[in-house]
Amino acid sequence: MRRVLVIGSGGREHAIIWKLSGSPLLDKLFCAPGNPGTAALATNLDADIKDFSSIAKAVKENKIDMVVVGPEDPLVNGLRDYFEADSDLADVVFIGPGREGAKLEGSKEYAKAFMERWNIPTARYMSFGKEDIGRAYDFLDTLQAPYVLKADGLAGGKGVVIPTELEEARMELATMLDGKFGDAGKRVVIEEYLHGIELSVFVLTDGSDYLILPEAKDYKRIGEGDTGLNTGGMGAVSPVLFADAAFMKKVEDRIVKPTVDGLRRDNIPYKGFIFIGLMNCGGEPFVIEYNVRMGDPETEAVMPRIESDLLAHFVALGEGRLGSEKVIHSSKSALTIVAVSGGYPEQFQKGYPVEIASEAVEHTLLFHSGTRSENGTVLTAGGRVMALTALADSPEDARERAYLGISRVSFRDIYFRKDLGLDLLNFKKD
Ligand code: AMP
Ligand code: GLY
Repeated sequence: MRRVLVIGSGGREHAIIWKLSGSPLLDKLFCAPGNPGTAALATNLDADIKDFSSIAKAVKENKIDMVVVGPEDPLVNGLRDYFEADSDLADVVFIGPGREGAKLEGSKEYAKAFMERWNIPTARYMSFGKEDIGRAYDFLDTLQAPYVLKADGLAGGKGVVIPTELEEARMELATMLDGKFGDAGKRVVIEEYLHGIELSVFVLTDGSDYLILPEAKDYKRIGEGDTGLNTGGMGAVSPVLFADAAFMKKVEDRIVKPTVDGLRRDNIPYKGFIFIGLMNCGGEPFVIEYNVRMGDPETEAVMPRIESDLLAHFVALGEGRLGSEKVIHSSKSALTIVAVSGGYPEQFQKGYPVEIASEAVEHTLLFHSGTRSENGTVLTAGGRVMALTALADSPEDARERAYLGISRVSFRDIYFRKDLGLDLLNFKKD
């Protein structure tokens, strides 16, 4: 029986908690710091995820024996390493890589060099510091528009800029190297633009064996038809209709296996999730990026499609027997709609009451993303407020059910995209 702590406070963590809460192997669930949604299924702990000693203290006090990390920051900053250095925490099963493995997300340059070393298909690239701006301009000259410029380090999801003109690319490069993204942009990766459709593939690995979870596609732009500013994610669908068995076999053979093998051959222990952002270029998969965690809002669409016991997979991972596990993918379709505060991803107000009519949650799952509770009332507390998922026999039914559900959720200035999933339905008809 397990006492499990999930670290984080968004829809992703709520969805992981929801999935774990159904496991017969579970003794007690905790979330730190959590949100009003996780509070309904787990005990929220008052720990600061930036303060590793407060997490360690909460783990010891509550006799927690498994920790699952939601966001990348604690991983990139070495939470796992911190646990490994404390002999009292040595037996805690920790789902998430150490600092070295987390560089796959924490440094774009590191990730590109890793892919190059292990022959994993990705866009052609070079990386530069301020001192080599001349060579960087020369490299830009060899590429066709649009140009892809990436700050090397974590930049809160804003570190990728895609100018369409050469002159604009040169200027952007200069401002990035001049400190636009602070330390994260001290080095910049410039790469070839890949034309295709994106999808996200999720892997759970113990560093030698792996399970491939249901794939998903997220919708990053604020506006319908994928227009406007980039956001943390406005919705997600799973499965992704163009990711058929033949495509997924290519992903496994050319990307997943070489990634896990590469980590092993580089002597990088890795126990946790790998989220591979892929471009499908005319049926051929290319890696756009690695993340060392699950995606948000993809997790809210993926978790409902896992029929096997995720906690059993985590336990097996901890015991080094992930290779004998099988993850069962549901044949159903999931669609997740994220309801955001008006104005997001720019200025928005917080503190509005959230009303959820009971029909909203009939046949749907409602995950809290940015909410807090005050005197029993749920209030908006972030840009992304709620993620509602419907799971149904067909993508059409999932879509219909999800939009019916979200129409019963209300708060002042609520906004959500009305076109989620339509691109894939059209794809199906083609
Ligand atoms: P990343 O933070 O690396 O995921 O990049 C953010 C977004 O930029 C991705 O989700 C893609 O939509 C886009 N992107 C990144 N790299 C490329 C590329 N080489 N070609 C085309 N689009 C890209
Ligand atoms: N939805 C994209 C991410 O979690 O990074």
